[in-house]
Amino acid sequence: MSYKLGVIGFGNIAQAIITPILDQKLIKKNEVICIVNSKKSFENIKKSYKYDIDIFPVSSDKAHLVWNCPTKLLSIKPQQLESIEEINTKTNKDNLLVSILAGISISKLELKFPNHKCVRAVTNIPITIRNGLTAVSWGDKINKDEKILVKNLFQNSSKVFEFPEKYLDIFLALTSSSPAIIALIVEALSDGGLHGGLSKKLSEELVIDMILGTILLLKDTKITTSDLKNMVTSPGGTTISALRVLEDKSLRSALIEAIIAATNKSKELS
Ligand SMILES: NC(=O)c1ccc[n+]([C@@H]2O[C@H](COP(=O)([O-])OP(=O)(O)OC[C@H]3O[C@@H](n4cnc5c(N)ncnc54)[C@H](OP(=O)(O)O)[C@@H]3O)[C@@H](O)[C@H]2O)c1
Repeated sequence: MSYKLGVIGFGNIAQAIITPILDQKLIKKNEVICIVNSKKSFENIKKSYKYDIDIFPVSSDKAHLVWNCPTKLLSIKPQQLESIEEINTKTNKDNLLVSILAGISISKLELKFPNHKCVRAVTNIPITIRNGLTAVSWGDKINKDEKILVKNLFQNSSKVFEFPEKYLDIFLALTSSSPAIIALIVEALSDGGLHGGLSKKLSEELVIDMILGTILLLKDTKITTSDLKNMVTSPGGTTISALRVLEDKSLRSALIEAIIAATNKSKELS
C-alpha cells in the first residue's frame, strides 16, 4: 500500500495531530510514514507510541519515502528548517505541504519547497488534549478538496479557522503564546494564596477551578466580561480593592503590550 501522509518531525504537536486521526480511523496506520531526526527519538517512538506506524530516522535509507506522499505535515522546530532538504521525486510536483512552524511565512515555505503547494497553520499547546485552536492560511493554487483535507487533518484535535496570512501573527500571539500568560497568572495568583497561608497545591487547585468556572460562565451564558466584573464588585468591597491595585500596576496595559510584542516578534521572524 502506498503512503498517503508523510510527517516530517514526529514530536509532541505532530503526534497530537496524527493520533486522533488514527483513533478515528480516518487514515490507516500503514498509510502514514514519519521521519524524525535522531535514532533515539525513533527508538522511543517505536517503543512507546500507541500505533505501530512506519517511522524512520533521517539517516535511514527509507527516510526519503516521506517525499513520495501526496500530503506532508511539516512539524519540526523553526530553527531545524535548515536541516530539511526537499527531495524532488517524480510524484511530488504540486503535492501539498502543511507547515505548523511558528513564524515561517508561506513565501518562505514556497522558496524552500518549490515542488509543493504550501499551507501555513498555527496551532496551540491545548491541541495535545484535543482542545487546540488552529488557524490555516492557504498558499496559491490550493483547491477546495485540498482545503477540506487540511481542515480534516486538524479538526479532530482543534477548532479550525481560516485566515488571510496577515492575521496569523496576532492569532499566534493570542492563542499560542497566551497559554504561557495564563500559566503565569495561575502561578502568581497561587503565590497570593501561599502568602495567605494556604499550601501551594491547594492554592493552585483553587485558582485553576476558579478560572475554569469563570470561563464556563462567560462561555455558556450571555453575560459580558464587564457584566461579570460588576457582578462580583460591590461598593467598598474586596474585589474593587484588588482591581485598584491592578489598575495602579497597569496590568491591563501590560497584557495588551504583551500581545503586541508577541505579534511583532512573529512578524519579525516570518
Ligand atoms: N510546542 C508548542 O507549544 C507548539 C504549539 C503550536 C505549534 N508549535 C509548532 O510545532 C512545531 C513542532 O513543535 P514540537 O513541540 O512538536 O517539537 P518537538 O517535539 O521537538 O518535535 C520536533 C520533531 O522534529 C524532528 N526533527 C528535527 N529535525 C529533523 C529533521 N532534519 N528531519 C526530520 N525530523 C526532524 C524531531 O526529531 P528528534 O526528536 O529526533 O530531534 C522531532 O520529532 C514547531 O515548529 C512549533 O513552532 C509548537
